[in-house]
Amino acid sequence: MVVPNVRERRWRFWDAFYTGVMGTAILLGVLSAQASHLKTDGANLLPNRFKACVRRSEWADGIRSKLPPQTLESTVALHVNDNVAAVEGADMIILACQPHLFKPILEEPGMAAALQGKLIMSVLAGVTSEEIENHLQTILRHGAFSVIRAMPNIASAVQASSTVLEARPPQHQQPLPKHFVATAHAIFSCVGAVFITQPVTFSICTTLNGSTPAFFAMVIDGLVDGAVALGLSRQEATQMAATTMRGTAELIMSGKATQDLRYEVACPGGATMQGLRTLEEARTRAVWMDAMRASTSGQSGLSEGIMVQRKVA
Ligand SMILES: NC(=O)c1ccc[n+]([C@@H]2O[C@H](COP(=O)([O-])OP(=O)(O)OC[C@H]3O[C@@H](n4cnc5c(N)ncnc54)[C@H](OP(=O)(O)O)[C@@H]3O)[C@@H](O)[C@H]2O)c1
Repeated sequence: MVVPNVRERRWRFWDAFYTGVMGTAILLGVLSAQASHLKTDGANLLPNRFKACVRRSEWADGIRSKLPPQTLESTVALHVNDNVAAVEGADMIILACQPHLFKPILEEPGMAAALQGKLIMSVLAGVTSEEIENHLQTILRHGAFSVIRAMPNIASAVQASSTVLEARPPQHQQPLPKHFVATAHAIFSCVGAVFITQPVTFSICTTLNGSTPAFFAMVIDGLVDGAVALGLSRQEATQMAATTMRGTAELIMSGKATQDLRYEVACPGGATMQGLRTLEEARTRAVWMDAMRASTSGQSGLSEGIMVQRKVA
């Protein structure tokens, strides 16, 4: 098996195909981490040039408008409907298309050969690394492919993602080269915290990392609507609710147990307890548990499903 040693390459290319919402968030996060000289473990493994592949030219325009202008000349190249050529010149690839599109994309003539021996990072929900490797093997029978599964989230754009990387168990038939794992770790460390999990728990972490920003946004939405209904401006309410959510998260991450936090805020006979009672009456905790289950089981079949094209943001 021939594996290019990405550590020894002077120019490293990362090809983020396909650069929709998630691919763009990762690209912006990595660029901004590098611009601020953020020190991450394995900084020497990071790519220094990027190719962003898109299908629609409107997406290319959308990405162009979000990137710092100087990066467009020196660091990021945009490829519209030019996937194989882009992959041929890349050392590592982030697969960020919709889950049901990975098969036709890998079947593009020349794609499997171009991917051979390279580090492939997949952020596709509901698609296992074995599924991708096996599909590539059916196309190129004697090829060697290494796919690392990662699940970052939308906060990558502001380097506040929680990303989970999949660790293959020691007895796995096809262990991943150590420097591939280290490189994936270094890339996702640029966009936030990185956690490691086993394949068996990956789908739960997919919900916790990938989906919950939408859940948390819904919590803020509801609180803001409540505050607006009572007379506060939407802008003030949004800033206050989001700041409070961030502060609460920081307290929990510093070691405070969620139950202690609730008891400390809700004093006996006080107003917070009345609000908590309303939430308990609505079975809110049970609803969150159900939502975790629904999103986690909803991942199966994504690779066969249909998904509507997004409008360019
Ligand atoms: N969004 C999130 O918060 C999030 C979080 C974690 C993981 N993920 C995963 O990230 C992946 C992408 O999600 P997303 O939300 O970023 O979706 P998205 O915005 O729809 O992005 C997918 C991109 O791939 C492009 N594409 C599709 N087929 C292509 C082709 N043949 N050649 C070139 N470009 C092609 C799409 O272009 P068109 O629009 O022109 O088809 C689109 O720009 C999914 O697998 C998802 O499970 C997303």
